[in-house]
Amino acid sequence: MGKVHAPLTPLTKVRRRCRRVLLCVLLSAAPAAAETAFVAEPAELFEAASALPPAIAQVSVAAKLNVQEHGAQSDKVVLSGWTRPGAERVLFAYPGKQILVARLSPEAAERLRLQESMTDPETGIAWNLMQIDGWIAADSLVPSLDPIWDAAWELFADRCTACHERRVPSNYTANQWRS
Ligand code: HEC
Repeated sequence: MGKVHAPLTPLTKVRRRCRRVLLCVLLSAAPAAAETAFVAEPAELFEAASALPPAIAQVSVAAKLNVQEHGAQSDKVVLSGWTRPGAERVLFAYPGKQILVARLSPEAAERLRLQESMTDPETGIAWNLMQIDGWIAADSLVPSLDPIWDAAWELFADRCTACHERRVPSNYTANQWRS
């Protein structure tokens, strides 16, 4: 036997309708669900889905991108990174940290969109968070960082003991880790 519902009072009906309308408003106002992806191998960013050279940016391994649209072979993404005023062609993952996200062509650097600014309290240097859209080969992207760090760990274990003892990654800051 089905559950018997008490008849809805007019006020309850109004409340329910309001909630539904509010939900619709919120959903339509929210940006299209942003999908995050990471670059698994150095990749080029292009202006259009046709991926005709020249590339607008060289994107580094582990760079985080927001996927806007899936094309046949490439995805439309938003690339973000921090730059120093006057050196907009190099995007870093964080202000003041030498973690390279991408190198841009001179034309692309002029089209960057400013999102946010801050001054590094330690150095007094100004940093701007910038964004640019482009298309990138879909097969260079992975949905999480795990496979990237797994591959990096293998490389680290194989290749980094030829000249000196294996360094302990957690003993270094991003800016000290330069090898
Ligand atoms: C061809 C030789 C060689 C190889 C291979 C090599 N290194 Fe080095 N590395 C050096 C030299 C030389 C220095 C500077 C002297 C030192 O600190 O021993 C150095 C310094 C470093 C430092 C900074 C050391 C410090 O104490 O300031 C880190 C971190 C480092 N290497 C990590 C790595 C990693 C990670 C790899 C593998 C990707 C690697 N190295 C492979 C030669 C090498």
